[in-house]
Amino acid sequence: MTDAIDSNWVAPLGPQVDAFEAEVEALVGVPHALALSSGTAALHLALVVLGIGVGDEVACSSFTFSASANPIAYAGATPVFVDADAATWTMDPALLEQALAEHPKIRAVVAVDLYGQCCDYARIRELCDRHEVALIQDAAESLGATYRGEPSGGQGDLTAFSFNGNKVITTSGGGMLLSRHRDWIDHARKLSTQAREMVPHYEHVEIGFNYRLSNLLAAVGRAQLTVLPERVVARRRVNARYRDLLADVPGLSFMPEATYGESNCWLTCIVVDPAEAGTDRETIRQALELEDIESRPLWKPMHLQPVFRDAPAYDREVSASLFERGLCLPSGSGLTDAEQQRVVGILLSTRS
Ligand SMILES: Cc1ncc(COP(=O)(O)O)c(C=O)c1O
Repeated sequence: MTDAIDSNWVAPLGPQVDAFEAEVEALVGVPHALALSSGTAALHLALVVLGIGVGDEVACSSFTFSASANPIAYAGATPVFVDADAATWTMDPALLEQALAEHPKIRAVVAVDLYGQCCDYARIRELCDRHEVALIQDAAESLGATYRGEPSGGQGDLTAFSFNGNKVITTSGGGMLLSRHRDWIDHARKLSTQAREMVPHYEHVEIGFNYRLSNLLAAVGRAQLTVLPERVVARRRVNARYRDLLADVPGLSFMPEATYGESNCWLTCIVVDPAEAGTDRETIRQALELEDIESRPLWKPMHLQPVFRDAPAYDREVSASLFERGLCLPSGSGLTDAEQQRVVGILLSTRS
């Protein structure tokens, strides 16, 4: 950051931005990257460079944060929501298959890597290829995870990362778009800086955006990348400790880890069955809140959100049921043993 200030590169471009992009390309094994102001901006530009607009449909994981789906609306397209698979909590490939068969207007799939766990990409890729639709990987939550031994981020035709303040590493706010298709990233680069044409004056032939990442924040991102491996180890350790401490509690289960990869365990998520556990999600959440400890219900599925009430949905009520019973526990990389024991103690005290 001192370098960025001393060299007076205090702008949404500069050597730190270039180096941050190159370092993420090397880390993820994807040759073209574009640093942006947010993960949401990355998802939006992915849709724009694919030419998706009014009249098009985009299949999207329903069990996610709204930022996965909002860019579909920005583009003027209609989301078709796909419920989660109980085995992974990520997009259910069987339901996606049905959605693609019944919605010929679907031109892309936004598959969301949930709470740090990758989707079942072998099956999703096969379906996308069969229907000739683009695969957009929303890897906002999964930087540092793996899929079949490969880093998360290389599975989509286009991939979005987020460096928002709540992620495993952060630039306070920021994102990145990656692809093996150079022309898409070049186009997104142009669009992200107000779509200025390559002439001396300001000439515009298409609508642009102000979506670039600042050189100062890219410097933060570069420093953060150096600690990514240890942060993932720390998050996984937090997850393992909770599993250990809560192993014998009936009616309490954890987000399943898929056999095809290793999650970065961004957040540790539990599901509480009230009949067996003698407590429920809301009682636990409120007991923690009374002690000034924040926990949150799992994502409310997009197909249940009032704002998306008119969107088609392929639903087996998996995510709806997880939303009713699930809780994200405190999961920060810096959580100590004692702090986790305190959380667990409060949780156990709510059982009747
Ligand atoms: C699944 C998912 N997609 C997209 C985003 C959007 O990223 P950003 O906050 O950087 O815009 C987030 C997180 O914020 C997210 O969790």
